[in-house]
Amino acid sequence: MDTTVKSIKSVGVLCSGGDSPGMNAAVRSVVRTAIGLGIDVFGIYKGYSGLLEGNIQRLGLTSVSNIIQRGGTILDTSRCLEFHTPEIRLEAAHILSRKHIDGLVVIGGNGSFAGAMELHIEHGVPVIGIPGTIDNDISGTEYTIGFNTAVQTAVDAVDKIRDTASAHARTFLIEVMGHRSSSIALQVGVCTGAEHVVLSNQVINYDKIAGDIKKGAERGKTSSIIIVAEREKSGLSYQIKEVLMNQYAIAVHACVLGHIQRGGSPTALDRLIASRMGYAAAHALHQGLQAHVTAINNGQLVMVPLAECLEGKNEAPEPELDLISALAI
Ligand code: F6P
Repeated sequence: MDTTVKSIKSVGVLCSGGDSPGMNAAVRSVVRTAIGLGIDVFGIYKGYSGLLEGNIQRLGLTSVSNIIQRGGTILDTSRCLEFHTPEIRLEAAHILSRKHIDGLVVIGGNGSFAGAMELHIEHGVPVIGIPGTIDNDISGTEYTIGFNTAVQTAVDAVDKIRDTASAHARTFLIEVMGHRSSSIALQVGVCTGAEHVVLSNQVINYDKIAGDIKKGAERGKTSSIIIVAEREKSGLSYQIKEVLMNQYAIAVHACVLGHIQRGGSPTALDRLIASRMGYAAAHALHQGLQAHVTAINNGQLVMVPLAECLEGKNEAPEPELDLISALAI
């Protein structure tokens, strides 16, 4: 690995993993800031897969016009499993060098950051990560771009379902995304006045769920909302529904919100944080910083070593759970 810090003349920017609302705002910010610093910017389309295919185009100031409000990503994205292979990363490093791309901004989640770290360690590519995932599950940062929009989308959906729950006196199990993280479920639970939240890493306590529903019914509640955090795969809420019906004689409806949570126009918060992070990422590369992530800590934007952001976040769900049960009595 060549450890000499070269001045950056051109950077590539890519989105990787699941899209999240606000990625476009981050791309726009990287592009405009870098150009302002005299750096050429190349958009790498379809994440690491596109990098390997050489799907790369120069981006100008107007190529990112009118995108700050759009969900998805104009650069497209992919989950590139072959990037876990060293030979494939060598190929990627060759492509970057052939295209004279001196540094890389990777907008994505844990898996995308792991690929960026390897590329840096093995081939000395200066990389800066911008946390972009609705799951808010990256260690080293309190916030990932897209989380707020996903929570708002899920809250809006649950509010609508609550109308039916109330009109028909029904209990609904509503499953939200998160992929092993309960971050979305906990905020949605608080903001929708849910009776209960089933965490993604918890042994399911059916007695407690059934008890909470019955307790609510005894004191006159005619409907209940239970938020379920998805696990490795979605669909847990159907399993819980079967158990409640068959073993506790409680009729419930299950609803998996799914990809609706990933799309849509980013909230102001996601646009703001994405814009700040894109600006910081371009400046970081310009100043010679390598293998860092634009992170939010104690509400402030800071640069955190990429190595600290590769693990899933340790969740501390107790305060939210206590709040939910205190307000659901
Ligand atoms: O990581 C974001 C996420 O939306 C998770 O919450 C979810 O489990 C997963 O992606 C779904 O992935 P895919 O869109 O590839 O099915």
